[in-house]
Amino acid sequence: MSNSSPLAGKRIVLGVGGGIAAYKSVELMRRLVDAGAFVSPVLTRASLRFVGKTTFSALGSEPVRTSLWDAADPIPHTRLAQQADAIILAPATADLIARYATGIADDLLTTTLVATKAPVVVVAAMHTEMWQHPSVVENIATLRKRGVVVIEPEVGRLAGGDNGVGRLAATEKVLAAVEELFSGGRGQILHGKKVLVTAGGTREAIDPVRYLGNRSSGKQGIAFAAAAATFGAEVTLVSTVPVPESLGLKVVSVESAQDMFDAVSTEAAQCDLVVMAAAVADFRCKEISPVKIKKSQGAPQVVLEPTPDILAFLGSAKPGHQVLVGFAAETGELEAEARRKLREKHADFIVANNVAEHDAGFAVDTNRVTLVYEGSALALDLADKRRIAEKVLGFVAEWARNKGVWKDQG
Ligand code: C5P
Repeated sequence: MSNSSPLAGKRIVLGVGGGIAAYKSVELMRRLVDAGAFVSPVLTRASLRFVGKTTFSALGSEPVRTSLWDAADPIPHTRLAQQADAIILAPATADLIARYATGIADDLLTTTLVATKAPVVVVAAMHTEMWQHPSVVENIATLRKRGVVVIEPEVGRLAGGDNGVGRLAATEKVLAAVEELFSGGRGQILHGKKVLVTAGGTREAIDPVRYLGNRSSGKQGIAFAAAAATFGAEVTLVSTVPVPESLGLKVVSVESAQDMFDAVSTEAAQCDLVVMAAAVADFRCKEISPVKIKKSQGAPQVVLEPTPDILAFLGSAKPGHQVLVGFAAETGELEAEARRKLREKHADFIVANNVAEHDAGFAVDTNRVTLVYEGSALALDLADKRRIAEKVLGFVAEWARNKGVWKDQG
């Protein structure tokens, strides 16, 4: 028992949906109880096909409930909803997610969900085809827009011998997300802020078929946009790569550096924070052939010209309430290069990463960055890109308030 856990003394409703992963919620319940939480398990009718009341009764801290009608209390849902500090749905099936997203309230769990003001964590688990179905994608986006925390399923073995995305996230991951709810880590540090993020590598056309491009996957930029939204910001993501609809973000799709410049320059002036995570091409073709260049014509002479430097433009036009964050992808002399960009482009921060490393930079899911700013630098350990984004945003928000760039106290 760990009384120092942020979960100690918290009242948690654990809603169990009818999926094969229902047995894993027993372990989740145990771990929540071990951390000192009072856990009220609410089992849907469908879940009882997979797990029994006895198991939850024997291992839980509060009575198991399965129906609106089986308790002495005539209004169990409002009591559960009002008293809960958090509600966790694990597993959240496609059906449960759909009913919650549309506000259907026809059993104890869904009435509790509609009646609560407590934060809700949805831990999704289902077959890959179901997770990818447009209805599920839209319902997840709806829930995210309402501030629900969604823990996406993991890749691995599924029921029936299939393999793919769909497995209930590891218990540790769910616990960490619930702990964060209570430890202020998910504080709304960007509440009321307008944030503009760019992601992906630009494509500079040679002819209607070919382009000059780079290896950027857009993962770090998308992670920044998603993290900023979770921190309460109003986010616009200007991206050259497709963005999962389930993230519920406002996305402007662009292709070239010029497109990105046009999109960013119309949005930026109102923004409190701009994160230029995109890998913008430095050069483009001076002339784009309107027709496909034929191989039979021999190797073409491609004449290049510089693209507009978006970050430098933003730096020169920066309003007093705005924090400007640029990136530097380098293969050596990391900090010196970052510091030069900081100065030359009038950015407030440069997130420098070494793209020569195998576990950081382009395409991989992890990153190791150094946050360079006037007078100092902060080296962050290797972490997944979402965590990197959260740490950078946390640091930047505190800096902006300390410096008086943002006048609110957060
Ligand atoms: O000078 P370099 O391209 O390495 O600078 C990287 C930073 O500048 C990134 O934040 C990138 O998004 C931005 N950049 C830009 N416009 C360009 C080139 C880079 O905004 N044309």
